[in-house]
Parts: sequence; C-alpha cells; structure tokens
Amino acid sequence: MASSDVVWHAAEVSKQSRAALKQQRPCIIWFTGLSGSGKSTIANALEEHLAAAGQHTYLLDGDNVRHGLNQDLGFTDEDRVENIRRVGEVAALFVDAGLIVIAAFISPFRSERELVRNLVDSDEFIEVYMSTPLATCEERDPKGLYGRARAGLIRNFTGIDSAYQPPETADLVLDTSSDDVQSCVSRLLTVLTERGILPPAAGISQS
Ligand code: ADX
Repeated sequence: MASSDVVWHAAEVSKQSRAALKQQRPCIIWFTGLSGSGKSTIANALEEHLAAAGQHTYLLDGDNVRHGLNQDLGFTDEDRVENIRRVGEVAALFVDAGLIVIAAFISPFRSERELVRNLVDSDEFIEVYMSTPLATCEERDPKGLYGRARAGLIRNFTGIDSAYQPPETADLVLDTSSDDVQSCVSRLLTVLTERGILPPAAGISQS
C-alpha cells in the first residue's frame, strides 16, 4: 500500500504524445494458458511479425521474468497472484511508454487477469486464451516438468495439482494442437486490425 506521504506526480509528456511519436496504438496482448500450450511460441512469432511491420513491441514472458524481477516468487497461489500483479504493473508502464506489450504468462486466475485489464483503458487489453488441451501439453512436455509433476517431484503444477481458470470472454481462442503458428499469427493480426491497433496495411504479408 502506498504511503499517504507519497504524492502522484503528473508528467508533462503524456501517454498520447509518446504513442504519437511512435505512430502506433499501445496495448497489452495477454496470452494465458497452460504450460506447453504454445504461449511463448505464438507470442514470439507475433512479435517478430509486428517488429518487421515497424511496430515497437516488448515481450514479457513468465520464464524470463521469473529469472529477474520475480525471481523471489514460486508457484503457490499467493506467489502467482503477486507475479501477475507485478507483471501487470510493468505492462501498464510500457503501455504508458507507447509500446505494444506482448505478455505470455500462465496467469491461471481470472481475478488477476481482470486486475491487469483494469490497469489500462478498456480497448487496450486483448486477452488471448491458448486452449491447447492438457493432454497435448503433457505429451509435448518440452521441459520435462509434467513428468516431474506427475511423479510428485514438483508441487503446485498448473493442470496437475494447481488450478487453471479458463477465460470466459477471451478476445481470441487459439489451440496449437490444431492450428499451426502461421494461422495463429494470422488470426491475431486480424483481431489487432479489427480493434484498430494495427492499420489495415500492417497486416500485410502474413509471412
Ligand atoms: S504463473 O502461473 O505465475 O503465471 P508463469 O507464466 O510466470 O506462471 O511461469 C510458468 C513457467 O514456469 C512454466 O512455463 C514452467 O516452465 C515453469 N514452472 C515451474 N514450476 C511450475 C509450476 N509448479 N506450475 C507451472 N509452471 C511452472
């Protein structure tokens, strides 16, 4: 809780002027889903495409942020709440800086995703649910974590012994067990264009 002795200082350079300098509409594209559902893969592919189209982006990824800013946090419900709270604040600051933020976090709880949504304007938060089934994620097991969780070597593993609450009103639902990377990126670009984040021309070559 902020001390009552700390007073907010309004900046002279506004969010609008920073965004205008970059000639883009800042937002948060928030990927949520199980470990192994394809969040990082699709988030990276999207960022590559947006950067190539001249958009200024920043990718926040759970595995990376947990090596730095959030290295003191584990995977209890309480720590996950704090993880998303901090990342949400960072994402909102980056939106204020004029960037298109791409965030890839399991973010298992609806309440924390709502909290992040409410940190920015209503048209600045785009929720993407990676609905890839648990069975597929577990079969992929790219980091061997599901195997270790099933063997009881890791506790509080999402989908095994820790809850995941799917979004009820996601802006886009992607399932990498049936959609390839290219078609996921295409569908994302369509949503971003429809939402006015990207000018029609930026959706250009979806290669
Ligand atoms: S979140 O739940 O707090 O949003 P976050 O996205 O930051 O999670 O981190 C998830 C990553 O941490 C996974 O992709 C996986 O590599 C790793 N991980 C390690 N332990 C766990 C666990 N108990 N549950 C889920 N992911 C875990």
